[in-house]
Amino acid sequence: MRHLPDLRVNAERLHNAMEKMADIGATPAGGVHRLALSAEDKEARDLLIAWLEDIGLEIIVDDMGNIFGKRPGKNNKLPPVLSGSHLDSAPNGGRFDGALGVLGTLEVLRTIHEKNVETERPIVIVNWTNEEGCRFHPAMAGSGVWSDRLDKKKIHDQRDSQGRIFIDELQKIGYKGTTPAKRFPVHAYFECHNEQGPVLVNGGKVIGVPRGIVGVRWKKVFLKGTANHAGTTPMNARKDALCAAAEMILKVNELPAKMGQDMVATVGEIDNFPNAVNVIPESVHFSIDLRCWNEDLIARAWDQLTTSLEKTARKRGCTFETKESMNLSRSSFNETLCDRLMEISQSLGYPALKMVSGAGHDAAYLAQIAPAAMIFVPSIGGQSHVESENTTWEDCEAGANVLLHGILASAMEK
Ligand code: GLV
Ligand code: MN
Ligand code: MN
Repeated sequence: MRHLPDLRVNAERLHNAMEKMADIGATPAGGVHRLALSAEDKEARDLLIAWLEDIGLEIIVDDMGNIFGKRPGKNNKLPPVLSGSHLDSAPNGGRFDGALGVLGTLEVLRTIHEKNVETERPIVIVNWTNEEGCRFHPAMAGSGVWSDRLDKKKIHDQRDSQGRIFIDELQKIGYKGTTPAKRFPVHAYFECHNEQGPVLVNGGKVIGVPRGIVGVRWKKVFLKGTANHAGTTPMNARKDALCAAAEMILKVNELPAKMGQDMVATVGEIDNFPNAVNVIPESVHFSIDLRCWNEDLIARAWDQLTTSLEKTARKRGCTFETKESMNLSRSSFNETLCDRLMEISQSLGYPALKMVSGAGHDAAYLAQIAPAAMIFVPSIGGQSHVESENTTWEDCEAGANVLLHGILASAMEK
């Protein structure tokens, strides 16, 4: 049952907000470079807070830098409806990833503010810190700590590739709030997001409602060989860490075909030391990202891979260590909320389908502590984490309208 069935978001206002936000950290090819806790992240947060204050929201920043903006309801003793996403981006990433969920929620709040809609429950908008995990592992750090699934001290102590510490960088941008990052009761959590893959485009649908998010495991691999002169060291006397890494990276790439099902595996981050034309590489660090709906398969895949990587390291005379930097369980969204979002989509005239998300989202942690659901809109060409990531403004509007009615339905519940 939809409340205020004729109510719709203001598509032009949403478009303008998305464009203004995309100006922050804009890259020449149309993307954004807004790494967590960077100067650009600060600028994006400042803009968001100014917009939240314009509609009279009560702002709270916690000691993970998560930003909450609360709009009271009739009964403020009731747990709120929470909705949002993230404003940080992958390096040279897309302008929709995360921003659509935050600014889509802002547009919902602007719409109900302008129409003086009174809801039974409070509605809280959230911008989670460091969803991407590219600068500081792991991903979804703000929501993970807030949900009590990650250790705050460990996250605060994380270092980026330049050795800069998370907590120092959070303080530097002025977003280490005084409120402890700690979950509060949530009636329902919503996150609107671009799909970031090809399912909706290929299926000719406007809205996707994921029933869950695949399990994600990240590891860091550290290899140590021996540096020596590239001209004088015979080929059979080398302990070349980069050659060991090259062989290992191909093994990671070949793993999904061996394991079957919907597994994907990626090496996306690599450092080579000393990285000089005429020096045999001494040490290499690279990352492994393994994802699958079947978590047991991830565990088995990792065991097999470890044995195989150890063999390569031995053969190439290198030492080999790994460190897990993320282990996110598969998450399932709330069926009632998912069904409701499907119904809302259909009643608004948007063709919709249920699916599974291969991308991680803050909703994965929220689903562990509250009823949660997501709304996906099509990504043109199935592209994301790239500057060319794109979604039509009509589809953004559709996602925001489904979000509006999803939030309203939950916020009207007594
Ligand atoms: C987050 O963007 C992820 O899926 O890695
Ligand atoms: Mn995202
Ligand atoms: Mn992302």
